[in-house]
Amino acid sequence: MRYSLSALSVLPFLGNLASAAVILPRQSTATSLYKFSPSLRAENIAVRPNGQLLITTIDAPDLWTVDPTTKKGSKLLTFPNTLSSAGITELTPDVYAVVTGNLTSSFANKGGWEIWKVDLTDSTPKTSVLKVFSDAGMFNGLTSLDNNTLLIPDATKGTVIKLTVSTLDSSVAIKDASMLPPSGSTGFSMGIDGCRYNSGFLWWTNIFKNTFSKVAMDATGKATGTVTQVFSDSGSNPDDFCFSADGTPYVALGKGSLAKFDDKGKMSTVASVASATACAFGRGEKDKNTVYVTSSGGSVFAVALS
Ligand SMILES: *[C@@H]1O[C@H](CO)[C@@H](O)[C@H](O)[C@H]1NC(C)=O
Ligand SMILES: *[C@@H]1O[C@H](CO)[C@@H](O)[C@H](O)[C@H]1NC(C)=O
Repeated sequence: MRYSLSALSVLPFLGNLASAAVILPRQSTATSLYKFSPSLRAENIAVRPNGQLLITTIDAPDLWTVDPTTKKGSKLLTFPNTLSSAGITELTPDVYAVVTGNLTSSFANKGGWEIWKVDLTDSTPKTSVLKVFSDAGMFNGLTSLDNNTLLIPDATKGTVIKLTVSTLDSSVAIKDASMLPPSGSTGFSMGIDGCRYNSGFLWWTNIFKNTFSKVAMDATGKATGTVTQVFSDSGSNPDDFCFSADGTPYVALGKGSLAKFDDKGKMSTVASVASATACAFGRGEKDKNTVYVTSSGGSVFAVALS
């Protein structure tokens, strides 16, 4: 039987009835929303309650905003005395924590990372340093456990640090071999990169080991189970990731795609996105099925899920 294109779109409903040989996984198209000029490596992303995107840049200490409707972008602010911005997470409505650090363009880490607070609840952004981590290896990802607790992965030490925002107390919450850079690597190397807490689990990627892992975590930030490897694929460079409303992880793969994983760890490619670094779901009625994807090629893409 030959399927027409329109018949193909109803095939998913047929499920197992149709032969797997006939059905190719349907992929979505990534449309460019915004391109930095001159180019900047977009590193991470958050979506504001008002629908605007917040974008960090690994090769500049900036925070940009992109309007997905008008496709216009502008620099919102520059973090002083630092070279780079990376992980971003919302703490309370429209208040964010952001990783910055003295990472040079050649990725020589000159040390000294800090976590900033960015409050956008007023028309003028209010920024302040939450805490400086002068002994950090390399920070990149960032996630919040609750509205007073940040979890900060250290990509070279292979740890996750817990930072209590109200007291600024910090301590290592987890240290695991799955978070370390590959053993024996010389020169620039990273382990844990993306890190997100979602529904009772801490999830993380190890970008140089090409793995994606998770562990059950209690409300205090303590791991309560054993670390499970969800996925491993040499050369995929899993970076940061986001979750759909039903808890499905969507991971930006540096090799050039947005991929999702079912609960058995089976990967499917959602869309091709060159040099993907991070993703976030839209928060509005119109864009709740759209994934915004940043790329180190200097663009921000929208992937409307089919
Ligand atoms: C933070 O979370 C607590 C506990 O869920 C809640 O009571 C409080 O209202 C939240 N604060 C803000 C500013 O969102
Ligand atoms: C980053 O480098 C600048 C310039 O040397 C310095 O002022 C700043 O304290 C450094 N930041 C950290 C967190 O070490």
